Amino acid sequence: MRIDILTVVPELLDSPLNESILKRAQNAGLVEICVHNLRDYTEDKHRRVDDYPFGGDAGMVIRVEPVFNAVNHLKSERDYDEVIYTSPDGENYSQREANRLSTLKNIIILCGHYKGIDHRIREHLITKEISIGDYVLTGGELAAAVITDSIVRIVPGAIGDETSALTDSFQDNLLAPPVYTRPAEFNGWKVPEILLSGNFGKIKKWQEQISLERTKLLRPDLLKDK
Ligand code: ADE
Repeated sequence: MRIDILTVVPELLDSPLNESILKRAQNAGLVEICVHNLRDYTEDKHRRVDDYPFGGDAGMVIRVEPVFNAVNHLKSERDYDEVIYTSPDGENYSQREANRLSTLKNIIILCGHYKGIDHRIREHLITKEISIGDYVLTGGELAAAVITDSIVRIVPGAIGDETSALTDSFQDNLLAPPVYTRPAEFNGWKVPEILLSGNFGKIKKWQEQISLERTKLLRPDLLKDK
């Protein structure tokens, strides 16, 4: 899978995309993540990618030309399944959408910045708008990092223990069960006895039951979709 990210602030994406599981997945050749500076795609001699909005509002708007050039350049090299724009206006991001995106071959993620992007980009180049929550960030870069992280970690082979991504919260519209490690008792605080029993059938049942209980208590809204 290949993910191309277009941004005016590539530095914001350096560390989130190059550590831990994302680093390992790229080194193992499971996924290619390419960050492009939109300034490399403008013919403006000062490399400016923004301009004042028509209508006289405050703030700056990303121009069509650098985005058009960057998207066309990428599309001339391979086909893309989605051209995503990160925006608070978009569809609320979910595990279901992360699962879907992880099955695609090539995607582009365009990060908004400043006041936004010229609306013609959204009308003619973008195939999907995604919001990572009902709050406003200074730009779409952190949202692009969140989306990329959630996709890459479920690409087969990215997580060492193949089963662990399947037991994540939300994979089943249920919160994950609590986990414990050694020692079995600390400061008088005990690990649930069942986990020490060695009876994996019973442990699995307990985990399912506690997942359901915690979901009912903490996120009853998730159970509506079940
Ligand atoms: N850009 C600014 N705020 C955002 C959000 N909540 N989700 C995605 N992109 C954004």
